[in-house]
Amino acid sequence: MHATVLVTGGAGYIGAHVVVALARAGYAPLILDNFANSSKAVLPRLTRLVGADVPLIVADVRDRAALSRTFAEHRIEAVVHCAGLKAVADGEAQPLAYYDNNVAGSIALSLAMHDAGVRTLVFSSSASVYGQPERNPVAESAPLAPANVYGRTKRTIEVMFEQLEASDRSWRIALLRYFNPAGADPSGEIGEAPSHAPNNLVPILAEVAAGQRSHVDVFGNDYPTPDGTGVRDYIHVSDLAEGHVAALSHLERQPGLATLNLGLGHGASVLEVIAAFERACGKPLRRRRCRDLLCRPRTSERHAALACPARLGRDLRRCLALAARCDALAHAQRHGKRVVIG
Ligand SMILES: NC(=O)c1ccc[n+]([C@@H]2O[C@H](COP(=O)([O-])OP(=O)(O)OC[C@H]3O[C@@H](n4cnc5c(N)ncnc54)[C@H](O)[C@@H]3O)[C@@H](O)[C@H]2O)c1
Repeated sequence: MHATVLVTGGAGYIGAHVVVALARAGYAPLILDNFANSSKAVLPRLTRLVGADVPLIVADVRDRAALSRTFAEHRIEAVVHCAGLKAVADGEAQPLAYYDNNVAGSIALSLAMHDAGVRTLVFSSSASVYGQPERNPVAESAPLAPANVYGRTKRTIEVMFEQLEASDRSWRIALLRYFNPAGADPSGEIGEAPSHAPNNLVPILAEVAAGQRSHVDVFGNDYPTPDGTGVRDYIHVSDLAEGHVAALSHLERQPGLATLNLGLGHGASVLEVIAAFERACGKPLRRRRCRDLLCRPRTSERHAALACPARLGRDLRRCLALAARCDALAHAQRHGKRVVIG
C-alpha cells in the first residue's frame, strides 16, 4: 500500500514537481490547492507524467472544516506544505494578506494534523529567512534576519513548528529553506506558470524568449559581485523536489526537527543567467540595465545568497549530488514553449 502524502499547494510550480517526485518514489500524492496562483490545467499534465490521476481537493489551507474532512476521508501519513504566497513586493503592499495566508494557513494545517494524529510535515521555507547574509555560503546556523514581510512570515512559521516539535517529540518536521528553484521537469509538461505576472528571473526570461514581454530589467549594477549584478544559488526544481522525498525518508527513520538549506552552494549572476538562457533558446534576449534610481531594486533585495548545504544527511546529499544538472534553463525554456503552444 502506497503511503498517501498530502501536498498543499500541489498545483503550483514547486508543488507539482514534488507531486511527480513523490509518485515516482512510490508515494500516493494528494493535492490540496485553492488555485490562488495556479490552474487546473496542470492536472492532465501530472496524469501524463505519473501515469495515474492525482486526486485533488479544491480548498483553502485556512479552511479548518475542509482540512478535517480531508484527513477524515484519506489515510494521510505525511504532509508537504507548499501552499503559500511568495511575491516579495505584494507582501510589502499587503502584509495582512501574507500573514493571513501563510501563517494562519500553517496554523490551521497543523491543528488539523494534530487532530488527525498526523505528525510528519515537510515545510517549504525560504532562504529569505536569512535576509542579507553576512557571509556566503550560508549555513543553517547563520543569523536569521528576514528583511521583508514574506521572509518574516516564513520565519514566524518556522518558529511555530520549532516550538510545536519541542512541546511534543512525536512530531517529525523538516524545514526546507529553498534558495532559488529554477527550471522545469525535463518533459516540459510542468514548470513555472504563475497566474500573475512572474517576479522571478527565469520565468521572466521565458516570457521574453516567447515574445510575451519586450525585455528583462537588470537591477543592480554596483553590487559587490563579479559583474555587479545579483548572484543567486539556482537549484533545479526537480532536484529540489527530490529533496522533499529525501526529507520524508529521513523523517521516517528519525523523529525530531531537521532544518535544511536546499541549494547548491554556488551561484550565478543575473547576467550569467541571461547568457545561459540565450544559449538555451538560441536567440538574444533584450535587457534593460537599470542605473536609474527609479529602477533600483527593493532595499530588501539580497545581492548574494548561496547555500552551504553542510547539514544535509546522507539521503539529501545523494540527492543533491544529482543537482549538478546544468539544464535547468533549457528545461525552463522547453516548458515556456509548451505553455505558449498551450
Ligand atoms: N519559487 C521560489 O522561488 C520559492 C523560494 C523559496 C520558497 N518558496 C516557497 O515554496 C512554496 C511553493 O512556491 P511556488 O514557487 O511553487 O509558488 P506557487 O505560487 O507556484 O505555488 C503555490 C501554490 O499554493 C497555492 N496556494 C496559495 N495559497 C493557498 C491557500 N491559502 N490554500 C491553498 N492553496 C494555496 C497556490 O494556488 C499555488 O498553487 C511557497 O510556500 C513559497 O513561499 C518558493
